[in-house]
Amino acid sequence: MELIKTENKREIFISNQIKKFAINGLYGFNTIILIGMGRRLGIFNYLYEKAKSSTSSGKNTEVTFTPFELSEILNLDFKYLDGWIHLALECGIIVIANSEKKILKTAPYVYDLLIDRNNESYIGGTLGAFYYMAPAQDILIENFKTGKIWSILDLPGDIVKDLQERGARFGTLVERLFSKKYENFCKNIQKRGTIFELGCGYGFNLETWAKKYEKARFVGIDIDHIAIAHAKKLIDKNNWNERIEIFETKIDEFTRSFKEKFDLIILNQVLHEMNTDKNYRKGVFKNLYSLLKDDGILLIGESMIPDTFAPKKKFQLFDITHKFTEVKASLFYDEKSFKEFIDSTPFTRAEFVKEGGNSIWVIRK
Ligand SMILES: C[S@@+](CC[C@H](N)C(=O)[O-])C[C@H]1O[C@@H](n2cnc3c(N)ncnc32)[C@H](O)[C@@H]1O
Repeated sequence: MELIKTENKREIFISNQIKKFAINGLYGFNTIILIGMGRRLGIFNYLYEKAKSSTSSGKNTEVTFTPFELSEILNLDFKYLDGWIHLALECGIIVIANSEKKILKTAPYVYDLLIDRNNESYIGGTLGAFYYMAPAQDILIENFKTGKIWSILDLPGDIVKDLQERGARFGTLVERLFSKKYENFCKNIQKRGTIFELGCGYGFNLETWAKKYEKARFVGIDIDHIAIAHAKKLIDKNNWNERIEIFETKIDEFTRSFKEKFDLIILNQVLHEMNTDKNYRKGVFKNLYSLLKDDGILLIGESMIPDTFAPKKKFQLFDITHKFTEVKASLFYDEKSFKEFIDSTPFTRAEFVKEGGNSIWVIRK
């Protein structure tokens, strides 16, 4: 068997490489296609609702179903559905519970990871977002050739919305880590805090925070008209108009007109999407500084992406995929360059808090 010795003397056989590229690639690709289609066809949503309605505690670890049930309830062609099911069995998304009766069930942890969107370990949204790389490809190929800058907003509206839902999921993780490490601060805002979200988008992240901090008041702003319209509907739907205000406005206009100061300012997955001009960004942080109370916190949830040639230290596939899709329109920092950026703003203290795969920046005056 042909083998190559790499610099660090590890032996790599051609069979390892075949496994990595052909076999892992095919399983990975098919898994993403199956998950993306499962979301769009309503299969995962149906299984989620079914599991929830079948237990009073709402605690499920798996859900059983039959092909006939899916075909009938979701109105899907049986032969196509059979193809999806067969491949989902091969890729390990589902397993056979009873072959005689043709009953299937979710494979171990699949309910937690791909279906139960409230589970801590849920990654369905992220994998769904990878699936959307497919329609983005034409745009990306064109941009590789022309160097054109594109915006995520060039994608179809339903995709933008799903991507924002995925981004807001990071907001949930940001909140969990923040409330764990800054328990007292969070207890105080729980009682009567004021929270400002810059770049609130469709309002998904605000929704998470508003549910947890029931007595806090919120203000969200964004420059995207469609997102703001959606966020306003979400607030109406939840009857939160008394305590949540949403504005379509720019940060400098908002800072000039809004006289109140906030306990907490949140930027969740916004920084990289912001105008990449350094002076513009400094201006934004100057505004945020004047909107924050003296003992307040600026909380930033953002992908920290090392330089391409920095030695690889850890698994960062999700963040680097993020960079790949948005590289020209966005400006990403690593820990060092972000700290340098903060040092160029009026803020004086920036702490990088990291636990497992999650991280936050906690910034103070
Ligand atoms: C990935 S979304 C995140 C939305 C929201 N924070 C969440 O977690 O659900 C990023 C949002 O930042 C907004 N954005 C980018 N630059 C902005 C700016 N300079 N001022 C206000 N919003 C901005 C975009 O319009 C977009 O809605």
